[in-house]
Amino acid sequence: MSQQFEDGTTLDRFIFETTKAHREAQGTLATLLRQIALAGRLVSSRVNRAGLAGMLGATGETNVQGEFVQKLDIYANDAFKRALEHVGVCCAVVSEEDDQPFLIPERFHSGRYIVCIDPLDGSSNIDVNATIGTIFGIFRRKTPEGTTATKDDYLRSGRDMVASGYIIYGSGTVLALSTGEGVYCFTLDPLVGEFFLSHSDLRLNDKANTYSVNEGYAAKWNPKLRTYIEGIKDSDENWKARYIGSLVADFHRNLLKGGIFLYPGTIDNPQGKLRLLYEAFPLAFLVEAAGGRASNGTQDILDLLPTDHHQRTPLFIGNKENVSDIERALSKE
Ligand code: AHG
Ligand code: MN
Ligand code: MN
Repeated sequence: MSQQFEDGTTLDRFIFETTKAHREAQGTLATLLRQIALAGRLVSSRVNRAGLAGMLGATGETNVQGEFVQKLDIYANDAFKRALEHVGVCCAVVSEEDDQPFLIPERFHSGRYIVCIDPLDGSSNIDVNATIGTIFGIFRRKTPEGTTATKDDYLRSGRDMVASGYIIYGSGTVLALSTGEGVYCFTLDPLVGEFFLSHSDLRLNDKANTYSVNEGYAAKWNPKLRTYIEGIKDSDENWKARYIGSLVADFHRNLLKGGIFLYPGTIDNPQGKLRLLYEAFPLAFLVEAAGGRASNGTQDILDLLPTDHHQRTPLFIGNKENVSDIERALSKE
C-alpha cells in the first residue's frame, strides 16, 4: 500500500517517513537520495544559467558510446559522482559518460548501494532550451560493504533495484521517485532550494492514445511495427503523436497524461539506442510502480539480465495495454 502524503511535503520528510520501517535504510538510502537531490539542484541551477555560464555546446570529445559530449554532460556526471563518493553509502556509480564504473576511491568508505545513472539525458536538446534530465536506478550491493564493488553488484536483473527516479530540468525542475510503492513527484522551489511534493502516487490508466517515437526511422523498423503504427493512425481513435527527443521528458509527459514511448531496434541498430542499466531499467521500475509496463518487444525490461554495463535495448514503455498491443503486433506471423 502506498502511503498518503500532503502536497507540499518536503522531499526530506517524505524520505524520512518512507524509510521509517527500515531503520538501516533511514540512514543509508535516505542519505543517498538526499545526495542525488543535492546534485540535481546543482545541475538545475547550471542548466538555468547555461547560456550565461559558458555551458552550452560540445566539448569536442566523444564518449564511450561514440556520441558527442556536451559540456553539461560532464558537469552533471561530475556533480553526481562528487555528491555520492564521500558519504559512505555508495560503492559504485555506473554512468553513461564513463567507460568503466566509477568505484568509490579508497579514502572513502565503500558503502551499500550502486547508482546507475544517465547524468544528462536528452543532451542534444541543451542548446535549444528544451527539457533535459537525469535518470537513476539504485541497487543494494551483493558483496560486503567496505570491499570494492564487482560486476555481480551491478550486472543483475532490474527486479533487484530498490529505488529509481529521474529529475527533469524543464519549465520547472521536478524529481520523480519510487521505492517500489507508487511514484511521487517533487517540484523544486528554486528560491527555497527545496523539493516539495507536487504529484502523489501517480497511476496510469490501462490504455492511452498518445504515442512517442522518432518516425524518421520508420523505413528501418521491423515492418510489423510500421504496420502497427500505420494502423493506429488510420483508426478512428484520435491518436496523438508527441516526441521531444529527450527520453526523460517524453516519459514524464506520458506518465502524467498517458501514452506509450517507443525506441525500437532498426536494421542498422537492432538493439536500438537506449541503454538498459541507466535508462530503461530505472524508467521500467517507475512505470511498473505506476501500474504500467515496459518491454523490449518480447520480454519485460525488468526481467532482462545485462551482460555489459553499457548494453542497449529496444524499449516500449507506458500504459500496460498499449505495451501488450505492441508485443502482440510484433509477434504476428
Ligand atoms: P543521451 O542524451 O543521454 O545520449 O540520450 C539521448 C536519447 C534519449 O534521450 C532520446 O529519447 C533519444 O536519444 C533520441 O534519439 P533520436 O534523436 O534518435 O530520436
Ligand atoms: Mn540518455
Ligand atoms: Mn546522457
